Amino acid sequence: MPGNPYPAMTNPYGSVTWPAIPYEPLTADRDRCRWPRSGPTVGAVTRVLVTGAAGFIGTHVVTALRAAGHQVTTLDAGLPGAHRTPLPDSVAGAPLRRIDLADRPAVADVLTGVDVVVHQAAMVGLGVDLDDLPEYVRCNDLGTAVLLAEMARAGVGRMVLASSMVVYGEGTYACPQHGAVRPAPRAVADLAAGRFEATCPNCGAAAQPGLVGEDAPLDPRNGYAATKVAQEHLTAAWARQTGGTVVALRYHNVYGPGMPRDTPYSGVAALFRSALEAGRAPRVFEDGGQRRDFVHVRDVAAANLAALTATGTRTGWRAYNVASGRPATVGEMAAELARAAGGPPPVVTGEFRLGDVRHVVASPRRAGTELGFRAAVGLAEGLAEFASAPLRG
Ligand code: UD1
Repeated sequence: MPGNPYPAMTNPYGSVTWPAIPYEPLTADRDRCRWPRSGPTVGAVTRVLVTGAAGFIGTHVVTALRAAGHQVTTLDAGLPGAHRTPLPDSVAGAPLRRIDLADRPAVADVLTGVDVVVHQAAMVGLGVDLDDLPEYVRCNDLGTAVLLAEMARAGVGRMVLASSMVVYGEGTYACPQHGAVRPAPRAVADLAAGRFEATCPNCGAAAQPGLVGEDAPLDPRNGYAATKVAQEHLTAAWARQTGGTVVALRYHNVYGPGMPRDTPYSGVAALFRSALEAGRAPRVFEDGGQRRDFVHVRDVAAANLAALTATGTRTGWRAYNVASGRPATVGEMAAELARAAGGPPPVVTGEFRLGDVRHVVASPRRAGTELGFRAAVGLAEGLAEFASAPLRG
C-alpha cells in the first residue's frame, strides 16, 4: 500500500455539527410572498436565470429548461479550475454572459425581468489545499450573498439552489448497541492502518450506514462542505425575511456526458473516466468499499425542472436529496465503468483523503412525493453511456 500522498493533519476540534435547518417547509400558500409575483408561474413560460450555466450540470439544466419551453438567460464566471478552454458564446442555444457573482452591478443588470433564479454556480470538489479556502468562500458564499441581495432589490422571489450531500458529512449510522449514532471524523491513524469504516462514538463498534434523509443534522467535514452549508443558511434566512421560496437540491454524486476532465476539483467518476480514456486503470482509494449514490446528470436536470415548478406554487425553504436511491461502492462503480470502457480493471490503492467521508447514501423519497422527481437512469445504463461520452476539455 503506497503512502498517503496528502499531508497528514489532525483535527483538534473534533466534529462540530449543526442541527437541520429549522425553517418551515414549503407550503401551498405562495401568496404569502411579499414580492410582486412578476410574470407567469406554473404551466406557463417562466423567465429563468441560470447561474453557472456553462458548467457540467448547468449545461444540462439549461437544456432541460429550454426543452420545457422556459425562457432562459444564463451567466457563468468561467472559473479557471472548471474551464480550461474559453467559455462558449451560448449554452444550449441560450446566450451566455460572463459574469462573476461578486460583481453587484452586473448581477443587478442580469436579474431584470427574471422570475426565478436556478443557482448552479459554485466552486466544487475538495480542492488542492487550504490556499483554496478563500476562493471557495468568495465563489460560493459571497457570490450567493450578492445574488440574494440583488434578488431582493429586484423583487425576484424564487430560487432553486444547487446544494450537495456534502452538508451531511458521514450521514446516518446505526450501532448494534447504541442505535442511531453520528461517527466522528475518521482518525488519521485508523485510515493509515487501513481501518476505513466509521465507528460508534460510544463503543467503537463498526457502525452500519443508513439512508440519510433531509432532516439529518448538517455536519460539513471539509471547507467546500462548509461553504455549501453556509449557502443553505443564507438562502433560508433570505426566504424567511422576504417570504420568498427556495428549493435546495442536495445533489449526490453526479456523473454523465460533459463532465470536466480530471482536475483537482473533479468528482471520482470524471477521474476514473479520464484515466480509462488515457489507457490507465482507475485508482480506487481506501479499500473501494465506500458507498455513494451516483445519479445521472439528466436526472439532476429533471430534478431542477421539477423544483422550478414547485417554486411557482409554494413558499418557504425546503431541501431535497437528488439521488438514484440505488447506492453502489466506489469499487463497484470503477469496475463497471472499466468494463463498459473496455479498459484495464481498477487498482485499489489504499490511499485516503482527510476530507472524505466513508459512506453517504440517501433516501430519495421526499423528492418523489413532494416534487414528483424519480431518477430514471440506472447505473449500468448510465455508465455504459458515460464510458464513451465526451468529457469537457
Ligand atoms: C462529490 C464531489 C462534490 C459534490 C458531491 C455531490 C468532487 C471532488 N466531489 O463529493 O463536489 O458536491 O460529490 O455531488 O467533485 N476516490 C477514489 N479515487 C479517486 C478520487 C476519489 O477512489 O481518484 C474516492 C474518494 O476517496 C471518495 C469517493 O471516491 O471515497 C468519492 O470521491 P469524490 O467524488 O471526489 O467526492 P465526494 O465526497 O463523493
